[in-house]
Amino acid sequence: MKRKRAWAEPYKIKMIEHLHMTTPEERRRFIEEAGYNTFLLRSKDVYIDLLTDSGTSAMSDRQWAQIMLGDEAYAGSKDFLDMEAAVREYYGYQYVVPTHQGRAAEHLISKIMIKPGDFVPGNMYFTTTRLHQELAGGTFVDVIVDEAHDPESDFTFKGNINLQKLEELIIDKGPEKIPYVSMATTVNMAGGQPISMSNLRALRMLTSKYNIPIVHDMTRVAENAYMIQQYEEDYRHKTVAEIVREICDLTDMATMSAKKDALVNIGGFLAVNDYEVFEEARSLVVVYEGLHTYGGMAGRDMGALAVGIRESVSDEHIKARVGQVQYLGNKLLEAGIPIVHPIGTHGVFLNAKQFLPHIPQDQFPAQSLAAELYLDSGVRAMERGIVSAGRNKKTGEHNYPKLELVRLTIPRRVYTQSHMDVVADSVEAVYDKRENIGGLKMVFEPKYLRFFQARFEPVPVGWELVGNEELSYSK
Ligand code: F0G
Repeated sequence: MKRKRAWAEPYKIKMIEHLHMTTPEERRRFIEEAGYNTFLLRSKDVYIDLLTDSGTSAMSDRQWAQIMLGDEAYAGSKDFLDMEAAVREYYGYQYVVPTHQGRAAEHLISKIMIKPGDFVPGNMYFTTTRLHQELAGGTFVDVIVDEAHDPESDFTFKGNINLQKLEELIIDKGPEKIPYVSMATTVNMAGGQPISMSNLRALRMLTSKYNIPIVHDMTRVAENAYMIQQYEEDYRHKTVAEIVREICDLTDMATMSAKKDALVNIGGFLAVNDYEVFEEARSLVVVYEGLHTYGGMAGRDMGALAVGIRESVSDEHIKARVGQVQYLGNKLLEAGIPIVHPIGTHGVFLNAKQFLPHIPQDQFPAQSLAAELYLDSGVRAMERGIVSAGRNKKTGEHNYPKLELVRLTIPRRVYTQSHMDVVADSVEAVYDKRENIGGLKMVFEPKYLRFFQARFEPVPVGWELVGNEELSYSK
């Protein structure tokens, strides 16, 4: 077979940041002190940080130049106007309200659109998105295709919406109870899975029939566009920028966490086409974020964001970005490690249920696996399973998600292929000793978004939960 030619990142390194190595003894102490929660580790004690791709990108020299040129006027900064122009040009939305990050935009749109008793269907949920919908009095309803809940299904577009499920919900509850459909490109919690353009087009037709708007969580829209270019027949010859624009044009409003796709360390926005919604968001943003021409961002951050938007839709950039994630995923597949199929666009997701089948879900197998990976090599990953899924609002029981995952999230333009090799080796080493890994018990649980600050203690292998009291275990 002809060997595939090597590929390389489309940039070179101008400045470096030193990494810190730790000893196994130090890591044992650090993870204990962190309550077995990788969110509570100090980053100086982490070697390769794959906790998140959020706000962790390396900015380009052009973005750093904008930082120096930032206009820090309280009102009417040139950087706001540049950012607004970039949103209009590349995404096509007419009105832009800046926010300090994505969840602030979610807060605004949920407050404006949702009434108590409403239902908000979506292609799976994101933690902050769903919480803001619930805090506004809505109930989130998952209408993603069933394949998305099956980590072994190789379906290419696991971010698709099951339109039949959605229409049944609309008919059952009545269109007036559905303020909007929440549609994410790509679906983070499903493993970074894309929605297809044909599904989105059909969604547009269905929602138009009932006069229901689509709110687009466009956090990783360029990555989704790249998957459409690679796998959807009619899009092979379109640029990522063209596909991004087409996606946005099929929706009515968008929330953006610019800390991901758009290559900045902080920032976000709400973008809408409806002038009345814009007016309301523009007055609310002043209450919660800051004036409507900075919304929680410094001028320089908005300048860097305007450049980041442009760079993020370049074919060359996105091919290398997703390519690096696929490189790591393929290495793990070759080593027989259970990961979510197909490989996502922003990270590789380990299937903890298969990796550690002896640990019951209420002993947090993904949480335990993430801690074990840190112990092995100082690589930091994140739990995306029962801890992240939280509790049922009514019964107070844990939500038991089908997907019990550990996310190895790749920051953009930060690590090299050699770092990916080190990560793959560490995952393999942990896999080899998997039978000796035990579960965890939760000893501290915050009220909201518990995964960020929950604390755990180890449960020896083979011990089981007694009754409902999480602190009682016996053999
Ligand atoms: N939507 C999606 C799909 C996200 O992945 C995130 C953040 C948000 C909204 C919220 O944006 O963080 O700027 O307030 N995801 C991060 C992550 C935290 O690690 O996946 P934010």
